[in-house]
Amino acid sequence: MLLSSYLSEYKKKTKRSAKIFAKSSKLHVNGVSHNIRFYEPYPFVVKSSNGTNLVDVDDNKYTDYWMGHWSLILGHGQKNVKESLKKQIEKSWMYGTVNEQTVKLSEMISKAVPVAEKIRYVTSGTEATMYAVRLARSVTEKKIIAKIDGGWHGYTSDLLKSVNWPFSESESSGIVNEEKIVSIPYNDLENSLKILKKHSKDLAGVIIEPVLGGGGCIPATQEYLKGIQEFVHKNNSLFILDEIVTGFRFRYGCLYPTMKLNPDIVTLGKIVGGGMAIGVMCGKKEIMEQADTTGKKKSERSYVGGGTFSANPASMTAGFATLNLLKSKKSTYSKINSLGEYARKEINKVFDGKVTITGKGSLFMTHFLKDGITKVTNSADVAKCDSQMLAKYHFKMIAHDGIFFLPGKLGAISDAHSKEDIKKMIKASEDFRF
Ligand SMILES: Cc1ncc(COP(=O)(O)O)c(C=O)c1O
Repeated sequence: MLLSSYLSEYKKKTKRSAKIFAKSSKLHVNGVSHNIRFYEPYPFVVKSSNGTNLVDVDDNKYTDYWMGHWSLILGHGQKNVKESLKKQIEKSWMYGTVNEQTVKLSEMISKAVPVAEKIRYVTSGTEATMYAVRLARSVTEKKIIAKIDGGWHGYTSDLLKSVNWPFSESESSGIVNEEKIVSIPYNDLENSLKILKKHSKDLAGVIIEPVLGGGGCIPATQEYLKGIQEFVHKNNSLFILDEIVTGFRFRYGCLYPTMKLNPDIVTLGKIVGGGMAIGVMCGKKEIMEQADTTGKKKSERSYVGGGTFSANPASMTAGFATLNLLKSKKSTYSKINSLGEYARKEINKVFDGKVTITGKGSLFMTHFLKDGITKVTNSADVAKCDSQMLAKYHFKMIAHDGIFFLPGKLGAISDAHSKEDIKKMIKASEDFRF
């Protein structure tokens, strides 16, 4: 079938979504509240979700691989998380004060993430990385932060540079001091070190995702991360790992210990909030203590949040219930990691040399090859692949097969998914014509 047939199929089955989205477009910029949630001709409107499924307002069901921006590792509406939340909501959902749920979640995180000697909660990953940057600048008394070409750390102005291709162009007007953010190529140690050396005097820190998420679902090599860390530490700068996607995704804990890394600050989010709003900045005690406000002059401290909703009991409870289940049922990881392996292998077979599949464990992304690209090791490679083809492939599955990937984005497998679900997705890939 041609894309136009899938478009009419989609429009036919999403009539109520079309009406509601038309209203949404009048009320909201782009009709959405997160840029990436819009796709052509209009996104379907969800009324409920459960397990692997999203249900839209026209009663269409979709097997979901977007999984709440990859936060729902246990699936939608998982029953233990739901029960814990219900109990908490009976007691109330917002205190605006210290609560025991926070302590319980922090005890779990600090046991699983050795570097989390001190923790500060916020309500989004964006805030967590924003504060991590401030803390690094404050501790080192230097200004420059290096990030990866294609690295995504949320919308904080401090890191909104070289996210989308072409990396040399500004991401947005309205940003000041962009020269204080420098960008380095992922998995290319030699060229990254060259750039870092140029800025070494004023380099406060480097922030990196151990698997580039939004930038193309690409694992970093251990050699690369170790090389950057070594340089950063010799230079008295800080090594910040953004594990907002990778934390508790592949194992119970972070990815960094498996790579023998020694970060100074780690940011977490998504999974540790169990599907509720969260961001976490944690790290070595001596570094985090810079944010301690007691007995320090303004000029000595790093003044970082919270906010109104930080460590709210609902997020803390959902996070605790999620980690508790992941801890007691470690087979979740072997299950979803091997389903991811299976998905990568089978999709590769289906497209027979026309794609490369990146990812790790339960995360995977298909890249349609073009212009002589044969492998994808960083975001520049991703940009040379056929992103329109990927969006078409995803849209075909939405329109025709009842399978949801946010068009163009990586897929995440949850504990709610079964091998049958993956087989259905492989089958849907088989009859994608391009
Ligand atoms: C690696 C990484 N860091 C930070 C963020 C920002 O988190 P949030 O969307 O909760 O602000 C994201 C979001 O996808 C992310 O993938």
